[in-house]
Parts: sequence; C-alpha cells; structure tokens
Amino acid sequence: MERKNLVIAGGGSTYTLGIIMSLIEEKETLPLKTLTLYDTDGARQERIGQATAVILREKYPELESFKYTTDKKEAFEDIDIAFLQIRTGGLAMREKDEQIPLKHGVLGQETCGPGGMAYGMRSIPDMIELVKDIRTYAKDAWILNYTNPAAIVAEALKRVFPEDDRLLNICDMPIAIMQSYADMLGKDVWNLVPGYFGLNHFGWFTKIEDTQGNDYTQTIKDKIISEGFVPTDSEIADDASWKATFATARQILMDFPDYLPNTYLQYYLYPEDLAEKESRDNTRARQVMNGRQKRVHETCDRIIADQSMARASLTHDIHGVYMVKAAASLVYHLNHIFTVMVKNEGVIANIPFDAMVEVPAMLGAHGPKPFAVGEIPTFYKGLIENQYAFETLVVDACFERSYNKLLQALTLNRTVTDVNKAKAILEDLIKANQGYWPELK
Ligand code: NAD
Ligand code: G6P
Ligand code: MN
Repeated sequence: MERKNLVIAGGGSTYTLGIIMSLIEEKETLPLKTLTLYDTDGARQERIGQATAVILREKYPELESFKYTTDKKEAFEDIDIAFLQIRTGGLAMREKDEQIPLKHGVLGQETCGPGGMAYGMRSIPDMIELVKDIRTYAKDAWILNYTNPAAIVAEALKRVFPEDDRLLNICDMPIAIMQSYADMLGKDVWNLVPGYFGLNHFGWFTKIEDTQGNDYTQTIKDKIISEGFVPTDSEIADDASWKATFATARQILMDFPDYLPNTYLQYYLYPEDLAEKESRDNTRARQVMNGRQKRVHETCDRIIADQSMARASLTHDIHGVYMVKAAASLVYHLNHIFTVMVKNEGVIANIPFDAMVEVPAMLGAHGPKPFAVGEIPTFYKGLIENQYAFETLVVDACFERSYNKLLQALTLNRTVTDVNKAKAILEDLIKANQGYWPELK
C-alpha cells in the first residue's frame, strides 16, 4: 500500500495525542510516510509537538518525517490527507458560550442552542480560510473535518466549496454510541453496521446489524431499558458528564421508542431540565480544562522530561481510530461504511434536498456514497426541519452579517423559543464575541 502524507490542523488540540496513538494502532490500515502538525498558536502546539516526536520515535520508527509548524506552506504542501480540529477562541470562549445562555435560564452547550450558534459564527470564517489555504498547496488532498459545530461548519463549507468533492465532515458520536452497543452485545464495533438518519448531533439509529446481516436493534433497545446505558470508549467511560448523558439517552428511548437516539438530542428534548442541572462556574469547558486538557498537558510534560513514553498511560480511542479508518477507506477505495455528513439530495426523501445530513455512506475514491433512507415519520421530520432551519439561518447570518437572522435562528431553536430571551442572549453573545464574529448589521 502506498504510504501517505498527513497533516493535523489544530495540532495543539487536546485530541492530538489520541489521534497519534490511533495512527500508531492503525498503521497497517493507513501507513504514513510523513506526519505534520499545524496550528496558528505555536506555543500551544509546542508541547504536543515535542511529546509527539518522542512517541513517534518509539512507536513509529518507519515514519520518514515528523514536524510541527505554524507555516501554511510547510504544513500543506504534498499532503494527501488533512484532519481539521481547530477551535476558534479556544476553550475560554467555549466557556462563555456555555455560561451566557445559562445566565438567561437557557442551557449552554458547545454545539447546541445559543452556544453552538456562537461557536459556529466564530468557526465559519476560520474554517473557510483553512480550507482555502489547504487547497492552495494540496488541491487533491482528502480533507476530513470534525471541527465543531460540525453541522453549521458543514453547511457553510458546502456553500463556499460546492464543487469540492474531497472535503468530508465527520463526527465521532455515532461510533462512540455504537461502541457501547458493541460492548453490550459482546461484539466488535467494526463488525456492526448502522442504519441512521438525521443531522449532525441530531439523529437516530434505525437499525444495528452485524456484517452477517443479523439484526440486533431490538436486543439493544431491550438491554438499554433493562440494564441501563453507559459510555464505554476509553476517552469517555469514566467521565461523569458523559455517564449522565448516556443515562438520558435511555430516557429518550423510553419516551420515543421508535429509534435509538443520538445522545445530543437530550439538549433539544429536555432543555429545561438540563439547564437546571448545570452550574455556571463549572460548565463543560471548565471540566475539560481541569480534566482532559490538564491530563494531556501533564502527559506531554512527563514524556518530554523523560524523553520516553514509558511512564505515560496513553491509548488509542474510538474518535481517532474512526477518523483514521475513514481516511483509509477514502484514499485506498475500500468502500467501508461510515456515518458521515453528506448533501441530502434525496437520501432522506421528505426533508430539504440541499440539507447537510448525517447518514451511513460507503467511503471510496469517488467520495461518500450514501444509502437511501426514504421518507421519515412526521415527528422526526418536524424536528429535523426546525433544526436545519436554525443551522441555515446561522450560516446566512454569518455571510450576510445579519442580526435579524441570528434572532430568527435563536427563536426557532428548541432550547430558546422565547423572543425576549433570544434578544437578551444575543446581546450578551455579541459583546462577548467582539473580534471573532463578523460585525452585524
Ligand atoms: P483545543 O482548543 O484544545 O484545540 C484546538 C487547537 O486549534 C488549538 O491548539 C488552537 O490553537 C488551534 N487553532 C485555533 N484556530 C486555528 C486555526 N485557524 N488554524 C489552525 N489551528 C487553530 O480544542 P479541542 O477541545 O481539542 O477540540 C478541537 C476541535 O475538535 C474542536 O472544534 C472540537 O469541537 C472538535 N472535535 C470534534 C469532534 C467531532 O466528533 N466532530 C470530536 C472531538 C473534537
Ligand atoms: C463528542 C462529539 C464531539 C464533541 C465532543 C465534546 O465526541 O461528537 O463533536 O466535540 O463530544 O466532548 P467534550 O468532552 O469536549 O465535552
Ligand atoms: Mn461530534
């Protein structure tokens, strides 16, 4: 197999080490010639870069070169694959996205509701620039984007790069959920095949089969109801917040037993309950700073000091392995099935043709080939159309610099709905995002 050149943009991310470990775990699936980290914040990337150099020296000696850089040309020239994982405004702005809505009694979340809107408005301009930069130096590279809010980013990129068929938006939530199903069944997650429809962070599993065609959907539903539902992937299994989220997914299934829900639906279905449970001085961003970020930075410091990873406890995770396997399926035309974001174009027959939907697709050299879903029932259609209208309005607002469209977006959003609340939240978000958002008219 021809070895590939890969760049990770957002090299300083808290997810980079997990991706590196996953690239090592999957080196036979996706053998690399060179690996590059790219970040606009050289200082933040430095310790991740230094630690990665040690890890790769020990675990990936066959790699021809590893470098980390803030220079676009150095980062993107001759690249076959790019993973995009940037966070405009960093975790500090994530915390504001979460705290501001809470002040008004509305839940604060990274990708949902007003927080997701605020993050989207920051992400869109940077993501457009990043994709343009990559295309300047590597016009045929496969770009796998999982920068959030992925639904809104995907909608914006679709409009700016309509002909770019090597740009794929992808999220790990469906596979992280399937990992829990697999563990409940005592099966290998890579031997499970989903039926799924929706938008990113807004969808449902209609079916779970194994590769022999045995249907486990009802078994999984029954087990979730009778035994409970817990996260099992190494990255989230011990996390109190993710445990609570999976427990709520069980409640969703009990309330709406048709399909197995994506965990993110909790924010739209029980917004009041969730807002009440959050505390403003310890939202998810703060938990990540004190948890994952701290752990990653301490691990890096130890590896750098020791010049060895012997004392570090690091492992691959489902997030990283999913991205690596998806990239391999694209570049080697493996046609394996992954749940990804694609243009709807009739896949879900009774929602807008041009929506960016999340569905299973075969990934090969000609891009994603989604499987037809057909018509979906009224309840799900109504929820999706409402949410897609919200996402569309956020992208419109960003491109048109429109206050009015943001107000419409928040008013439509199930986590807000009240216009006075929407106005008050918007006023605070505009102030907090000065210098990040386009100036509104
Ligand atoms: P982080 O802040 O730790 O890392 C982001 C990195 O991107 C930082 O080092 C930052 O300096 C860098 N960066 C910011 N703007 C940049 C730009 N314009 N160009 C290059 N680099 C830039 O954040 P994190 O918590 O590790 O998350 C990283 C991203 O991955 C977020 O967008 C997060 O939502 C996303 N994510 C998505 C999924 C998914 O399933 N879709 C899963 C995990 C993480
Ligand atoms: C899941 C989602 C990602 C999101 C992440 C947040 O993996 O699919 O889109 O970025 O959770 O996790 P965190 O631990 O940062 O709250
Ligand atoms: Mn996601």
